[in-house]
Amino acid sequence: MNACIRAVVKYGLQLGYRIVGIEDGYLGMIEGRFVELDYSNVNNIIQLGGTILGTARSEEFRTEEGRKKAIGNLRKEKIDALVLIGGDGTFAGGHVLSEEAGISVIGIPATIDNDIIGTDHTIGYDTCLNTVIDAVDKIRDTATSHHRIFFVEVMGRNAGFIALNAALASGAENVLIPEEKTDIKQLAKEILHQNNGQRSTIIIVAEGDDGGGAIEIMEKVRPLLPPGYDMRHSILGHIQRGGRPSALDRIIATRMGALAVELLNKGKSELYIGVQGEDLCLNELLSKSTSTAKLDHLKLELLKKLQTQ
Ligand code: F6P
Repeated sequence: MNACIRAVVKYGLQLGYRIVGIEDGYLGMIEGRFVELDYSNVNNIIQLGGTILGTARSEEFRTEEGRKKAIGNLRKEKIDALVLIGGDGTFAGGHVLSEEAGISVIGIPATIDNDIIGTDHTIGYDTCLNTVIDAVDKIRDTATSHHRIFFVEVMGRNAGFIALNAALASGAENVLIPEEKTDIKQLAKEILHQNNGQRSTIIIVAEGDDGGGAIEIMEKVRPLLPPGYDMRHSILGHIQRGGRPSALDRIIATRMGALAVELLNKGKSELYIGVQGEDLCLNELLSKSTSTAKLDHLKLELLKKLQTQ
C-alpha cells in the first residue's frame, strides 16, 4: 500500500495538486486527522509493508451521522477527490460518499485475500503468497526428515486464493478451502494414499474452511488413520499480513496509484482499478459487494492431478 501512496503523492504533486493523507481511513476522516503529504513523506517507503497512513475499521462511518462528520471534515480541508485503497467495504463507503457529498472517488483493491472481482491481483496478495511458500518450504524440511504429516493453516476467512495458490507453489499434497465442501473421510483416504507412513505430506488449510482450522481438521483425521502416523499443525497467522513487499506488489501498486491520479485528473469517478494479465482495467464502483469467490477451479483440478507421490 505504501508503493501506491507514494505513486499517488509523487504524480499528484507533479500535476500540481495538493495531496492530503487521511490517517486510519474513514475513522480518521470522521475525527479530522488529515496530513499534508509532500515528497519527503513518501521517500523510502516503497519497501515498507503495511501503510504509513494506518488503517482502521469504522462502525461510525456506516451511520449517516458519522458520514456527515466525515463530509464536513473533507469540505473543511477542501478535499474534492479521494483515492481509496482497500476492499469491498472501503469501496462501498466510497460509493456512498460520492453520492452523498459529490466527491470524486477512485478505488484501488488491496487485500491479502485477493477476493475482489474484476482484478487478477489485489495489493498485498503476492507478498502474502511468497511469505506462505517460504514458511511451507521450511516446514517441509521437518516433515520430510521426520516423515510427518503437516496441516498448515493460512489466512482466508472467506476465500481460498491464498491456500490454493500457496499449495500449488509449494508442492503441497492437499488443500482445503472455504469454496469447497470438506470431506474428512476422503481426505484421510487421500493422505493414506499419498503418505504410507514414510513420506512427508503437507495439507494447506484456509482458516475459513467449513471443516475447521488446521487443529480441528487434524483431530478429525487422526482416528481415521492407523496408529503411528505422526501429525503436526502450524498456524502461520499474522506474518502473512506484513513484511517487505514483493516486486510484483510494488509494481502493481505503483501503476494503480498513478492511474488513479490520472483518472481523477480527467474528471473520472466511481471506478476502481484492476489488473488483468499485463494490463490495468477499470470497474464500476458499485454499492453492491465487489467481494466474490472468483476461484479458478482449473487450479484445484491441477493440484488433484499432482497429488500422488
Ligand atoms: O482481510 C481479511 C483477512 O486477511 C483474513 O483472511 C484474516 O482472517 C483477517 O484478515 C485477519 O484480520 P484481523 O487481523 O483483523 O484478525
